[in-house]
Parts: sequence; structure tokens; C-alpha cells
Amino acid sequence: MSWKFWSRGDRQEADTATDDGEVATRPSPAFSTIDARLRQRPAFLDTLWRGPVETDDSPELPRFSATASDDVASTGDDPNLARKRLALRDALGASQPVIARERFAGRHDALAQLIAAIEQQRVHVVVYGERGIGKTSLVHVFADTAREARYLVVYGSCGTEARFDTMFRAFASKIPMLYHRDVLPTAIDNDAHATFDSLLPESEFGPREVSDLFADVVGTRVVLILDEYDRVLDPAFRRDVAELIKNLSDRAARVQLVLTGVAQNLDELVGYAPSIRRNIVGLPMRPLTAGEVKSILALGEGAAGISYSGEAVEMIATMAGGSPYLVRLLGHRAGTAALDEHRVSVDESHGRVAVEKVLTDWNASLPRRIQAILARDDARAQWPLLVAAARAGSSADGWFTVDDVYTEVGANIPPVTIERDLRHFAHAHELLEVQDGAETRFRYRYPGVSSLLLMSAAMAKLAA
Ligand SMILES: Nc1ncnc2c1ncn2[C@@H]1O[C@H](COP(=O)(O)OP(=O)(O)O)[C@@H](O)[C@H]1O
Ligand SMILES: [Mg+2]
Repeated sequence: MSWKFWSRGDRQEADTATDDGEVATRPSPAFSTIDARLRQRPAFLDTLWRGPVETDDSPELPRFSATASDDVASTGDDPNLARKRLALRDALGASQPVIARERFAGRHDALAQLIAAIEQQRVHVVVYGERGIGKTSLVHVFADTAREARYLVVYGSCGTEARFDTMFRAFASKIPMLYHRDVLPTAIDNDAHATFDSLLPESEFGPREVSDLFADVVGTRVVLILDEYDRVLDPAFRRDVAELIKNLSDRAARVQLVLTGVAQNLDELVGYAPSIRRNIVGLPMRPLTAGEVKSILALGEGAAGISYSGEAVEMIATMAGGSPYLVRLLGHRAGTAALDEHRVSVDESHGRVAVEKVLTDWNASLPRRIQAILARDDARAQWPLLVAAARAGSSADGWFTVDDVYTEVGANIPPVTIERDLRHFAHAHELLEVQDGAETRFRYRYPGVSSLLLMSAAMAKLAA
């Protein structure tokens, strides 16, 4: 099955087209794959919103299936099944990035590119792609590999409040003075624990002080990872990091940065700074291939002694649209559904149960008011538009324009009509937020809504 609902690659092309003003007239390749089957909202959604979800309350209250020490013997469930459940959760649990190499599936090309950029090209790297595509996992496995080659790798996750000096003081505190040009090996004995931060000013400092300091690294190579770089709100932070990259490159310092962030292209993340362009390599994370989806599910198969049928794999691959996060979430749920029936072969019906469960959970996480809006007739009638809008916003920060939706919608609906309908759902900022500026932008107020729409669109395709 070649269809995918996250049209990443395609949208990038559409973006380029903006530059020559063509985007409104040139349909994105993604839309040619949207067909009539997607004009109808899946019936499952109607049952979801019609009323309280049916539950099969058994007379007994639910219990944990294992003790906190992972001891399965002392609980009611068949110990063998309970063990499989735990193993499956450990292998496919979707809430954590992968840290260990044996849990990391596929992505050999991305890892090789990252290594080459650091080792051969000696540049700084920006890893970018959607949430859940595997950026954090990639940099963790990369860090492991680099440490093996005796690189000093320091990982830092950026928060919304990140400040340049605090962040780089923390990085410097992980680099031992042993690697400072001016430190004699004999002097080390005096203060074996001294680190580079001891040479930074006590007060605030900027990129110049940091590059001066880092230019003195000898005897190793340092890689600093700034994960979730896109979350930083302070524009000065990005400016300072760009300046630092330039200075470090100019001085051929033995320190390289790896930034990761949710973005569709390099400019979104580092801004257009021509002076640093040749010192940076962008590494876009692509959707997983079918083979990679299979190898992630194989981790669950090996751990829990279950097997996914070919149809189940294909279904999970389609619904996940290349996201390792969704592959694990659905793979875990589908496997659990099979184990619930005391079966070790996972088939398409378990895949369906998994999808419905995920959609139900996402829906339940939305405020009741939003659920009610989605259940309304106008939302039902405008389902294709709402899906197109979700696609348009699936990149980066979620904002999209009328033109973006026009590109995705695939039918000949005039932009004025699209704008009118989007504004309808932006009424009182309920479903959509709207920002009127030089260019009007919309965004789903709750990211759960767009996830739900995207997956239900994949579901519609499957049901057809
Ligand atoms: N190569 C991989 N193999 C197996 N699981 C992966 C892989 N990459 C990502 N995952 C899983 O996908 C989910 C999201 O990955 P993460 O690295 O946190 O993505 P991002 O940082 O891009 O949001 C996590 O549950 C992680 O375990
Ligand atoms: Mg991450």
C-alpha cells in the first residue's frame, strides 16, 4: 500500500513552490491520492460521539495484572499471558524515546548521515521532522555510538524557558579541564574534578565567550546535543546559537552542535542565516519504510512470543503513516487485544481494535465541548475540509493558511469558500484558532483533534 496520510515530502515541495508564488495553482502530489472514499466520515466516529462508550463491566473490579516488582505469579491472570503483556509493553511502549541500540529499529541511513556529518564533514547538524518521528531516539543512539569512538557527547533538552548562558554553562560543566589546551597533565592531580564552566564569567555571557572557551578544547572532540530546540521561545537564544555556530566554525573548534526540532525545513528551525549555511547540515527524518515498521513490530514479537500477520503489519503501517510513535502505540494495543483473547497471533481485527482504542482515547482527552462540536452535523459535512486542514497543520507548529488547505483539499473549492468554512469553525476560537495578520493563519486549538482527524482519514481509506 503506497498511500500515506502524512504528506511530509510532498508538502516540502509545496513550500518551495511558495517562493515562486505557484502554490495556489499547483496541487500537491499528495492530493491526487485523496479519492472519493475520503469524502465520507467513518461510521466509527459517529458511534464515538453519539453517547457514552459502551463498556463491558464485569462483576469484579479491574486489577493490576502484575505487581510493581513485575512479579506476575501472585495475580489472578494467567501468569504466562501476564508475562507476555509485560514483555510487550517493555518492547513497544510508546511513551519513551529509544535509548538502547537493541531497541532501535531501522534508520541506518539517518544514523550513517549523522555520523558522516560529524566525523567527515565536521559540520554542525540540525535533525528535523515531526513530533514522534524519532529524533530524540536517533540522537541517543548516535550519542552511544559516538562515545564508543571516544567523543565526549553531552545531551541537553531545551525547554520553553531555556536561556543561552544557563544552557551552555551546563554543557561546559560536563567537559573536564583535562581537555583544556592550557592545562598541563601534571596540574590535573590538583583538581581532578575541575570542568570548563569554571572559566566562564559568573555573570551573563554570550556566544563569544563560549566560542573562546570551546576553541581551547584539545585531546578529544565534543558533541553537544540540543534536543527540542524548537521549544525555546526566546528569539535571542536562536540568534546566539547561530552566532556560536559561526564562531566555532571560523575557529575550527573541536566542538560540534547537533540540534533537533519539530520543523518542516531547516529555515524554520535556524532561521535564514546565510553566514552559517555552509557550516550546517540539515538531516530531515523521513517516514518509516514498510521494512522499518516490520522491524519495530518484530521487537514486540521477539519479546512477547507473539506474531503479527502480514495484514496486521500492513494495516499498522498504513495507520501510522510512517511515525514510529504510532507504530509502537498501535502495535502494542493490537498485541494486547490478541492477548486479551488468549491468542498469540495478531491479525487485522486486533489492528482495528487498536485503532478504535487509540481514537477513543484521543477523543476522551478532548474537552466535552470540543467532542460535541465534532459530533455536530456541520463538522460531519465538512469532514474532508477538516482533514485537509489537519494535514496542512501536521508540520511544525501547527499553523496553516488557507492556501495550505487549498493545496491539501484536492477538490476544486475556491479559497474564499475554504476561508469562510474555516472561519466558521474558528467561531469563538472553539475548534480552530485564527490569527489575522499580514497573512491569516489557523490552527487546531487542540492537537488531539488533528491527530484524531488524520488517523480517522486513514481509517476511512482502509474501510473502503
Ligand atoms: N528507530 C526506532 N526504533 C524503534 N522505536 C523508535 C525508533 N525511533 C523512534 N521510536 C519510538 O517512537 C516514539 C517517538 O520517538 P522519539 O525519538 O521520542 O521521537 P521525536 O523525538 O521525534 O518526537 C518513541 O516511543 C520511540 O520509542
Ligand atoms: Mg523528541
